[in-house]
Amino acid sequence: MKNKYLYIATFGCQMNVHDSEQMAALMKESGYQPTEYPGKADLILFNTCSIREKAEQKAFSELGRILRFKKRHPKLIIGFGGCLAQHLGAHVFHRAGEVDFVFGTHNIHLLPEMVAVVEKNRQRITQTDFHKILPSANIFAPPQKGSVSCFVTIMQGCNNFCAYCVVPYLRGPEMSRTPQKIIEEIKRLTDYGIKEVTLLGQNVNSYGKTQEGQINFAALIKKVGQVDGIERIRFTTSHPKDLSEELINCFAEEKKLCEHIHLPVQSGSNKVLELMNRGYTVEDYLEKVARLRQVCPRISITSDIIVGFPQESEKDYQETIDMMGKIRFDSVFSFKYSERKGTAAQKLEGKVEEAEKLRRLKALQSMQDEYTLQKNKQLEGSTQEILVEATSKNSESDMMGRTRSWKIVNFKGNHALAGMLVEAKITRAYLHSLRGEIN
Ligand code: 5AD
Ligand code: SF4
Repeated sequence: MKNKYLYIATFGCQMNVHDSEQMAALMKESGYQPTEYPGKADLILFNTCSIREKAEQKAFSELGRILRFKKRHPKLIIGFGGCLAQHLGAHVFHRAGEVDFVFGTHNIHLLPEMVAVVEKNRQRITQTDFHKILPSANIFAPPQKGSVSCFVTIMQGCNNFCAYCVVPYLRGPEMSRTPQKIIEEIKRLTDYGIKEVTLLGQNVNSYGKTQEGQINFAALIKKVGQVDGIERIRFTTSHPKDLSEELINCFAEEKKLCEHIHLPVQSGSNKVLELMNRGYTVEDYLEKVARLRQVCPRISITSDIIVGFPQESEKDYQETIDMMGKIRFDSVFSFKYSERKGTAAQKLEGKVEEAEKLRRLKALQSMQDEYTLQKNKQLEGSTQEILVEATSKNSESDMMGRTRSWKIVNFKGNHALAGMLVEAKITRAYLHSLRGEIN
């Protein structure tokens, strides 16, 4: 039988990257080998994101590019999945008639069945139902050859309904996986040489709250810490309102837990935070940051910030700028507010002009760049533990890895070091990476 090939176009967050790995693993069992070339593929899957308008535009423009392959290869099957598919359902066919099937965020497990039906009957299918237990949560995606770090989903969905966000509508309510399943998966990953796991969920701090008799997130971290072969633990994303004292203490108590937390603050104005329905004040946030730094002085703190949320005045924006000056994040992902259908923020008055949002974003980013560089410069001359990942993008004779604080370090070295923990002296700091030397 002729080899069949699968190409996946992935958009958006780490959750989607991980979902794509699961899709690839499932379709491999149905005889589809992964390829990096869409022109070679017999099946193309879109794993889309809907968090901001730009992400949607990107998916449709890529789809437009891919459709030319369908002209050359009429038997090519195109599946459209992920958050945007969940949102649009069968409307995807109106926008792109060449798509063969649409699958939502809870239906990854149905992929082999859907592809088989399309292969046989060339009939259009849409599957966007939500399920009470997530059947795709336990699909095992073997890591790529040579990887040392992996994502492990510990929960799906979100119950928070932040006013700007579509995730609760498109990924459904919060559901935690059992600790047994999570530990089983991590043990399996160590057989492939995985040394670092990132525990993944929309709000990992509320892990365990949705099922009775579950352990909480701090207890889960300690359990993962007991798995032989795992040297480093990370997690993302944390909601500030659910960051418990017990979890903060893990940074001192659990040696494998890396000194980094991604803690999205979104705004430095209490008025805006309330409109966003975030459930904390700037003062609460500052207190949590102070506690984190008290318990773990070396911790690196990164964040997400939205500018131009409805009714954000110049004064509110300046409060965000002031807060950033006080905190000095290691780095920040910042976004212009993007209106999403069906969210509470869509109904708010006082929308901010696009040009004004852009001005605020640019000024905030250039200020944060200075802080990021200063933070990185503080590491010059220090010795950092690095988990070596792969050959550096910049040079064939360099390797790259990450510090425990999640910073990229490039250094002279050969491929035999991949997967090893090494000590490196930091010789130079840049905005997006560090330069190091190993003995
Ligand atoms: N507009 C802009 N940014 C958004 N985010 C989520 N929804 C929106 C939106 N509608 C940002 C938040 C979140 C990150 C993943 O994306 O900052 O933390
Ligand atoms: Fe969206 Fe808020 Fe849930 Fe994060 S916590 S996924 S921003 S609703």
